[in-house]
Amino acid sequence: MKTQILESTSENIKKAAEIIKKGGLVAFPTETVYGLGADAMDPEAVKKIYEAKGRPSDNPTIVHIGRASDIGQLTRMLSPGIVNLIENFWPGPLTLVVNKKPKVPDVTTGGLGTVAVRMPDHPVALELIRNAGCPIAAPSANISGKPSPTTAEHVIDDLDGKVDAILVGGMCRVGIESTVLDMTEEKPVILRPGIITADDIEAALNKDVSVDKVVLQKTSDGQGNEENAPKAPGMKYKHYAPDAQMLVVEGQREKVKSEINRLKDLNEKMGNKVGVMLFEEKAFIEAAHDFFAELRELDRQGVDIILAGALSATDGVGFAVMNRMMKSAGYNIVKV
Ligand code: TXA
Ligand code: MG
Repeated sequence: MKTQILESTSENIKKAAEIIKKGGLVAFPTETVYGLGADAMDPEAVKKIYEAKGRPSDNPTIVHIGRASDIGQLTRMLSPGIVNLIENFWPGPLTLVVNKKPKVPDVTTGGLGTVAVRMPDHPVALELIRNAGCPIAAPSANISGKPSPTTAEHVIDDLDGKVDAILVGGMCRVGIESTVLDMTEEKPVILRPGIITADDIEAALNKDVSVDKVVLQKTSDGQGNEENAPKAPGMKYKHYAPDAQMLVVEGQREKVKSEINRLKDLNEKMGNKVGVMLFEEKAFIEAAHDFFAELRELDRQGVDIILAGALSATDGVGFAVMNRMMKSAGYNIVKV
């Protein structure tokens, strides 16, 4: 397939919207990461997303809408809590899992009775969705298992020749995917952490929010095990894996730095090319912004080993980055 690489002009966004209307695939920028979109209500179109990404079919997609009120096309019941979150956080990086209307196709939701919905905070994404005139199902625009794409170049590297068009925008502002919040039970549950934190949501709802236990675990034990099955099916798969071997070093800052230097020397003496990922202390927003791009850059440089300094955070944005870092490293961690 010949992929059209399009600058995000109004004319090109219209062209891309026509492709979506005809059942094709378009990758586009959002404020979090790039998405790979198709008409969410067209099962044949959504199937193509799974094929292009090599994604397991039980992993549901997030449905993107161009106006908050369009959530009514996807779900029947809107609780006061849901309305409150929409008013506070949309457009923005918060995905709400709600009960779906029967007309939302099973392929879009991986056969679940719920649908994940968000309104992205990006002018190109919003213009594309509004022009297409339908909700757009869009997972991150990477090959399944690879780091999420935060620039158009990342998308081109993964999907050129596999999708109809790629809308080129700048680097994504946030850099990690949206917070996924299950609103189908009495107590809201964070299924995937993001830059909208449990504290932010609790402040808006004036109510406790819990975090799915799979998100909290520090090892890969129990992945795929029934009892520990995550509520967001996507959280169980190998994720964000760089080509390099990755090790996370956790502990007090100075100790982490010296252990990384020691391991780097040792490995280089043995003929390995070593990449280091060390973020400024407490600069969590910057770490989120740069994390996936750094992983891809280190792979591009062909390093054999990535040594990453753990962020010291047990909640909030730092915790959301650590969730990705641990998965990228396959839960490979040493403490110093
Ligand atoms: O920021 C984002 O959310 C980006 C941009 C493109 O919007 N999208 C994204 O989609 O990260 P994806 O498909 O890579 O991740 C969606 C996550 C997966 O972990 C999936 O299992 C979960 O959301 N999910 C989707 N629908 C769900 C549902 N009905 N119930 C529970 N989890 C759901
Ligand atoms: Mg993804």
